[in-house]
Amino acid sequence: MRTIKLPSGKSIPVLGQGTWGMGEDAATRQAEIDGLSLGLDLGMTLIDTAEMYGEGGAEKIVGEAIKGRRDDVFLVSKVYPHNASAKGTIAACRRSLERLKTDYLDLYLLHWPGSVPLSETLMAFKLLREEGLILDYGISNFDLKGMQKAVALPGGDEIATNQVLYNLVNRGIEWDLLPWSRENALPIMSYSPIETSAAHQRGFLDHPSLTGIAERASAAPAQIAIAWLIRQGVIVIPKASNPKHIRENREALDIVLTAAEIELLDQAFPPPVRQLPLAMR
Ligand SMILES: NC(=O)c1ccc[n+]([C@@H]2O[C@H](COP(=O)([O-])OP(=O)(O)OC[C@H]3O[C@@H](n4cnc5c(N)ncnc54)[C@H](OP(=O)(O)O)[C@@H]3O)[C@@H](O)[C@H]2O)c1
Repeated sequence: MRTIKLPSGKSIPVLGQGTWGMGEDAATRQAEIDGLSLGLDLGMTLIDTAEMYGEGGAEKIVGEAIKGRRDDVFLVSKVYPHNASAKGTIAACRRSLERLKTDYLDLYLLHWPGSVPLSETLMAFKLLREEGLILDYGISNFDLKGMQKAVALPGGDEIATNQVLYNLVNRGIEWDLLPWSRENALPIMSYSPIETSAAHQRGFLDHPSLTGIAERASAAPAQIAIAWLIRQGVIVIPKASNPKHIRENREALDIVLTAAEIELLDQAFPPPVRQLPLAMR
């Protein structure tokens, strides 16, 4: 698996597995565990989860999937903003670790900006790191302004990443946040890279330009969408439970888009021409 360097010097895989929607239904539990295990077998060792997903249910699924292979996994979880006080963050992290049946997270994120001052959360993150319960920390759903304020706080200079919505139909961050993050060597994690779940607007994978490119490249549309994001230099965490999807997503790593394909994608899914509010799920 290709990796990107975090500011701490640690490596993070460029392609991983999301878990939003997992752990919500006993009937799909085993399939979700098997799916994550298959993804790990295929080398997608980064797993992104959160205390929010299934109210802890997704973390329990992940705990089962990584049993016996913790050291091969790059594990990311997130704290709810309403839990992100100095004490609350530490308690939330301990609960997550229990559900995940591990004693450390590779990366712990604040899920989105909330009413608790970020300086408090950062202090807690630093304590968790000192105790060895997390190796790195970061934030999620911060726009450029929020990001600039965050890095100026004590401990903000050690923020490892900002996880944001970024895909072919949501390219707003290319206007400001992405160039700034590149300049500051602060990796972006792209969530909802395919954006096809029932809760999302449909149509993106059916877009004629995307299906046309995919067909000519003998690839699935989702693979083109993922390959494009990897080419943008971000970390990509598609969620898939269907084994066919899991295999496709892993294979997207090997797809090299041509300049002509990139141009066609830019025509079909144009980059921003002005500043846009940060898109969020
Ligand atoms: N920080 C945040 O606020 C935030 C917000 C949203 C998401 N996230 C993280 O990012 C992850 C990914 O985002 P997401 O779950 O919203 O959306 P996504 O990964 O863009 O899309 C997931 C959907 O795409 C389908 N899919 C996966 N691979 C496919 C393929 N090769 N071809 C066709 N369909 C495919 C999945 O179906 P099957 O499951 O049936 O395979 C699922 O319905 C989340 O799971 C979560 O870990 C973070």
